[in-house]
Amino acid sequence: MKRIFQILISIFVLVWLNACHRKSEPAFTIGFSQCGMDDRWRVEMVESMNRELSFYPESSMILKDARWNNQTQINDIENFIAQKVDLIIVSPNESLILQPVIEKAFQQGIPVIVVDRRIYSSQFTAFVGASNYLVGKNAGEYANILLNGKGHILEIGFGPTSTPSIDRHAGFLHAINQHTGLHIDEYYNRNWSQEQWGAVLKDYLKKKPTSVDLIFLHNDRSANHCYKICKELGLEKKIKIIGVDGSVGEDLGLDLVQKGKINATILYPSGGEEAIQIAMKILKKQPYHKENELFSTVIDAKNVSIMLAQHQKIKEQQEDIKRQVTKIQDLTRIFSFQRNTLYLTLFFLLMVLSLGGVLFYLLREKQKSNLILEQQNHAILAQKNEIERISQLAKQATEDKLRFYSYISHEFRTPLSLILTPTEDILHRKSGDVKETRQAFQLIYKNANRLLRLVDQLLELRKVDAGKMELELQQRDLIAFVKEIVTDFNLKAKTQHIDLQFICPFKTLPFWFDAEKLDKVFFNIISNAFKYTPEGGSIHISLLKNIEKIEILISDNGIGMSKEEKDRAFDLFYRGNQNISLGTGLGLALSREFVCLHQGEIEVDSQKGKGTTFKIILPIINPSPNAEATEKVVEKPYLREVLEPKVVADTETLQLHDNTVVLIEDNQDLNLFLRKKLENSYNTVAVETAEKGWEEILKNIPDLIISDVMLPEMDGFSLTQKIKNDFRTSHIPVILLTAKGQMESQIEGTKAGADAYIAKPFNQQLLEEKIKGLLENRDRMRRRFSSEITNPSQIQKNERKFLVEFELLIEKNIKDSSLSVEKLSKELGMSRVQLFRKISALTNKNVTDYIADFKLLKAKALLKESDKTIAEIAYETGFNNPSYFTTFFKQKTHQTPSEWRNS
Ligand code: FRU
Repeated sequence: MKRIFQILISIFVLVWLNACHRKSEPAFTIGFSQCGMDDRWRVEMVESMNRELSFYPESSMILKDARWNNQTQINDIENFIAQKVDLIIVSPNESLILQPVIEKAFQQGIPVIVVDRRIYSSQFTAFVGASNYLVGKNAGEYANILLNGKGHILEIGFGPTSTPSIDRHAGFLHAINQHTGLHIDEYYNRNWSQEQWGAVLKDYLKKKPTSVDLIFLHNDRSANHCYKICKELGLEKKIKIIGVDGSVGEDLGLDLVQKGKINATILYPSGGEEAIQIAMKILKKQPYHKENELFSTVIDAKNVSIMLAQHQKIKEQQEDIKRQVTKIQDLTRIFSFQRNTLYLTLFFLLMVLSLGGVLFYLLREKQKSNLILEQQNHAILAQKNEIERISQLAKQATEDKLRFYSYISHEFRTPLSLILTPTEDILHRKSGDVKETRQAFQLIYKNANRLLRLVDQLLELRKVDAGKMELELQQRDLIAFVKEIVTDFNLKAKTQHIDLQFICPFKTLPFWFDAEKLDKVFFNIISNAFKYTPEGGSIHISLLKNIEKIEILISDNGIGMSKEEKDRAFDLFYRGNQNISLGTGLGLALSREFVCLHQGEIEVDSQKGKGTTFKIILPIINPSPNAEATEKVVEKPYLREVLEPKVVADTETLQLHDNTVVLIEDNQDLNLFLRKKLENSYNTVAVETAEKGWEEILKNIPDLIISDVMLPEMDGFSLTQKIKNDFRTSHIPVILLTAKGQMESQIEGTKAGADAYIAKPFNQQLLEEKIKGLLENRDRMRRRFSSEITNPSQIQKNERKFLVEFELLIEKNIKDSSLSVEKLSKELGMSRVQLFRKISALTNKNVTDYIADFKLLKAKALLKESDKTIAEIAYETGFNNPSYFTTFFKQKTHQTPSEWRNS
């Protein structure tokens, strides 16, 4: 911006300078060396020069008057040369003496104009002046007319070195010599002053008064002096006088002629005006003439008036011109002011336009860069969003993978528990019961198979992922194939009371497929259906066909899936699959891959609580040339593990032991195994879901709860939270028993309020010790509490809160003699048994004893701190009979109320 302003200011200066330059003409200095200034003729010469110079206001003239001194005039010209004036005008005093300095100026390149008196050299630039020879000749011829060709003449010149006199005399002599009757009697031509030659003339006329007819004088000034002498001598009428110059003014040429003092004057113009005109031409390098002869004529009584009138007219015109020049100068000043103003205005306009242009440009540039910035911003934002999205995906993928590994470990830990725990059991058993040992080995074998199946599935999935899984197509009867799989499940269906049907309108359906893979697909989906279909439910398999494809539907009316679970049913890494076992997740993911290998599709439709339908669509494909035509036997090593009839847990337990434990474990084998172990020491209620567990907990208010974490529907953490947030159950210790061994899970479990956390595969003994420890701990606390009623600081915050609430309730109803456990439990929103168990668990007292102790405490306080009577205190603590109160008091304290009061 600063740079732009600098440029604009420079433009302004240039325009302004240009304007000034255009306004002024070139400024010249002219040096004028005048030989003398004491006569009107030479004054007029200078005046006419100045008049002409006024047309060139920028140029100026330096005037030097040599006062008729040759040396002075030489010096003046030398000075002009030294000053380097642009041009010199010289009116030389004596030409021959002045000639060298004139030539010098000329040689140094300064133009020189010689006026009036010519020099005898060519080294000058121009000459301006009338011809003195012609002046003399005109005078001679006019003398002849005046004298009629006969008479005596006197001539008076300026001196022998005066060039005008030399020329004038020559011209005069030439004209006189034409007439034999005319005689120049005397020619006085010396360097005399007027007084000198006047005295000589006077003497001459006095001596010869009649012998002079005409006197020719070389200027009018001399002619006037001559007239005066003639008049003095009385000869003015007789002697005719001719002068030279013809200047205007009193006692000057024309005036003398008009007044009859002299007979004629020969016009000899000074040439000042012309000299300046030629000077300007030379200076402006315009064409000019070197020789400029001025007009000369005779002025006598006949034409003097015209001449005067003309002169007057010229004078007026000159005045007029002068005025006009002044006016023009004024106008020029106004014009130049206006022009400058216009330039200035134009400049500012230009500046405004330029600034406008610059601003517009800058604005456009700014807009452009803004646009670019905006685009860049958008691009960056888009990139950022994309990076965020990708990192989110990557994060999710990592999380999913971590979760997947966690599932794998979970899924491996359960069968491992069921291998390790029975193994340990066998190893530690002292007497070997053959049946029990066999059962333990069966459990180990089954779970080892299960592990094998999981490993196989993982490997197969890995193979599919790596693109190494290939179809081994065989032509088989698809109906028979599916029927056989369904038949495999018949026993399981019967045991679980499930309506299992295969509905198909065709008897046979030859079809090219990979039997081993499709077997796994159907088996997985059907066993999945069994897993989530409750007893009494139905699983229907149907097969449909058109020209292009076959559709197999497997529908159940089981627990169904949420929309999210359904959408990602085949996604192995799906986070929502937390409660679905890896076996299922793997099975479904693998099923989809196998169906895709057949160029088919697998879809799922499910509604929570209503059931699920899997649809397998298989295109009818032509076999590849290397397809095997023979039927291959499909091996089903996993069959035994899955199809083994479900063991129905017996929830009815005998109340043989002191403590009751509720066990929640969804793995049937582990459930059964643990139940059997626990039953040796505790009344055990074993269930497979958290929902059922919660029912049993409320029903029994057990002494301890053991729960798995990963359960279908509600998980172990949520169940623990539920237990700990309900004052009916908050006192019950909870052991979380799960394959989730990581620290985060333990923290989560502890947060939920779990009392202990045991990771699978677990050590049976450790579990038993943990159970024992927790129960003993509770007993210790209970014992302490029972001896320190209403000092609940020893127990947990939740329990303290419960007891405070419970005591407030007793306090509120203390006067009520009919206060019962039923009434209190109802007010607390619990059953009688729940309240009983809770109070017993916390205080080792039954509810009735607890109320009695509370009343006793209150009575003790009233006896010591109030003046109330024993009867009044009895009523206030809910005894409607004071003597019964006294009996009760004595029984408890071994003192009567009065004794207590006074003690
Ligand atoms: C003036 C003058 C004129 C004359 C001229 C000649 O000084 O004497 O009267 O004509 O000079 O140079």
